[in-house]
Amino acid sequence: MAETPAVARSYTFDPFARHQFYHDINESLVRLALAQLDQSMPPGKPVRVAELASGTGAVTELILDELERLGRPGHVLGVEPSPEAIEIAAQRLYGRPVEFAQGEASDLARLASGADAVFFCNAIHLIPDKAEVIRMLTATLRPGGFLAINSSFFTGAYAPGSERFYHLWTRRALGWLREHHPEARPSRSEKTTAMVWLSADEYETLMDESGLRVATRSEETAYMPLSSWKDIGSYWLFIEGALPGVPIPIGAEALSWAAGQAFAELDLTVVPRVWLQLVAQKVA
Ligand SMILES: C[S@@+](CC[C@H](N)C(=O)[O-])C[C@H]1O[C@@H](n2cnc3c(N)ncnc32)[C@H](O)[C@@H]1O
Repeated sequence: MAETPAVARSYTFDPFARHQFYHDINESLVRLALAQLDQSMPPGKPVRVAELASGTGAVTELILDELERLGRPGHVLGVEPSPEAIEIAAQRLYGRPVEFAQGEASDLARLASGADAVFFCNAIHLIPDKAEVIRMLTATLRPGGFLAINSSFFTGAYAPGSERFYHLWTRRALGWLREHHPEARPSRSEKTTAMVWLSADEYETLMDESGLRVATRSEETAYMPLSSWKDIGSYWLFIEGALPGVPIPIGAEALSWAAGQAFAELDLTVVPRVWLQLVAQKVA
């Protein structure tokens, strides 16, 4: 399993995940998926839910809250490669019916075989082979079980008119790096294939090919304030994707400063961003 760097403890996803819009977007997916699962099962029957890339537990908490709200007993297993993220999630959800295991997609079927539902939120864009990960997620489900996936890194994520923000943000970050840390140039060769974006249709085709039937597909827009761009720009995995090869603390400073600059120059209060939300059922 890939090691997470020491900086992962200081540059976590958690501040971003605590924004209200992030909660709302994910809650919407969780409710869509669990409503369908709940309706498909006899009342009172406990459910087994697995969540790949459970991170710092933001979506895990929403899943547990929704099961409670539906009056559906159940247990959640979060599978996540980063021990730092698991530590935060375990503290956050102490005492609730959840456990965490360090692992990734290839471990999921072994750890959570026959799950009634599998969630994989805000992470599929990080995986180079999306067809393979969808096959692994499908293999983990029991026939008739539900898969829920979302991402704001897909073709269509940029709300119309928002492109100029991304161009300026990048330009200002590179300018800041040149001025303050000329030695820390982003490496072109390190640009990862994981950052290849698929369209909603392409995701649907991959699901189809893997034996899933897409039950709901929607695109929801979040209105993201400056503080959230600073927070995502201070997350180590985002920095690795945006400024490959640049040391994380320097990349965080560049992206955070440049976000403020772009907002000020374009006189923005929010930047809209589109999330793709997909719920699919494994063909019985
Ligand atoms: C942006 S965070 C999303 C966390 C959580 N799912 C959420 O929606 O709030 C991305 C997560 O994907 C995890 N991740 C990165 N590469 C992964 C992989 N190959 N397999 C599984 N998880 C991975 C990271 O450690 C991180 O916790």
